[in-house]
Amino acid sequence: MANAMAGQLHDRVAVITGAGRGIGAGIANVLVSRGAAVAVCDLDGAAAQETADAINANGGKAIAGAVDVTDPDSLEHFAGRTISELGGIDICVPNAGVIGGPGFAERFDFTRQDWDMTFSVNVMGLTNTTEAVKEHMKDREQGKIVIIASHGGRKPRGIGDKGRGTAQQPYLVSKAAAIQFTHLLAIELGPFNINVNAVCPGRLWTPMWEAIAINHKELNPDYAEMTPHEIFLDQVKATMPLGRPQTPEDIGKTVAFLASDESSEITGQAINVNGGAAMD
Ligand SMILES: NC(=O)c1ccc[n+]([C@@H]2O[C@H](COP(=O)([O-])OP(=O)(O)OC[C@H]3O[C@@H](n4cnc5c(N)ncnc54)[C@H](O)[C@@H]3O)[C@@H](O)[C@H]2O)c1
Repeated sequence: MANAMAGQLHDRVAVITGAGRGIGAGIANVLVSRGAAVAVCDLDGAAAQETADAINANGGKAIAGAVDVTDPDSLEHFAGRTISELGGIDICVPNAGVIGGPGFAERFDFTRQDWDMTFSVNVMGLTNTTEAVKEHMKDREQGKIVIIASHGGRKPRGIGDKGRGTAQQPYLVSKAAAIQFTHLLAIELGPFNINVNAVCPGRLWTPMWEAIAINHKELNPDYAEMTPHEIFLDQVKATMPLGRPQTPEDIGKTVAFLASDESSEITGQAINVNGGAAMD
């Protein structure tokens, strides 16, 4: 690590969960562009393989695997593979997440299944992921963990108004848990020279936000004539001072900073990348 140029990630290895598409794939591409090798995994193993194939075809280095973050064994196995095939793990990005259980988009109210799914993936999946790399990082006395939370986990918004259904409640609580987990893990791992931070994305047009937009459309008569993407842009304009959505690469750039030597004195922080939509 000592030889790495400031802000660069040459000779670093990053594990990224949920990297078959969306934000996870964007993070993988940015880290590779800074010189890192990546181990990309996803519940959808074929999608993770596509992310890795595209990186390898462009001259980067990537391995892929099918991993369910709710299954600690599957994560342990992938971490072991990464260490033997890429030489170690310097960076871990728990990114996999779900907005709710099946049928979320059509419902106003949350169900028991929304709580179960968001907590098993967004919270337990997060702790399972960090558990799988923690001892390895402690042994080497170095590491960067960058958790993908959400600005929705920070402060209450007007749930229930303008068609924003309470179906999102379990998701928002799970993301608040992710931020608190970031604080506690930073305290635990700081003495081992391991930085733990979170990035809180705002609004990105991925399959996750498409489900949210469909949910808004189902519930709000004002949105009846709009496409899900138009609803998404309407919400972006209404809430973000910068007036534009974020991209997976925007999130990846902040992850790259938090994974680099440039941020060595930053730990236990949750950084909004949200166009100014929430300022806490
Ligand atoms: N899109 C947004 O606007 C937004 C905003 C704030 C936070 N986020 C967070 O960013 C992260 C990525 O979101 P996205 O928009 O790319 O979502 P997405 O739905 O497009 O992609 C999520 C990926 O996670 C994978 N995944 C789901 N369950 C999994 C499991 N059990 N094990 C392994 N992989 C699993 C999916 O297969 C998928 O490839 C999530 O944690 C999400 O909560 C997204």
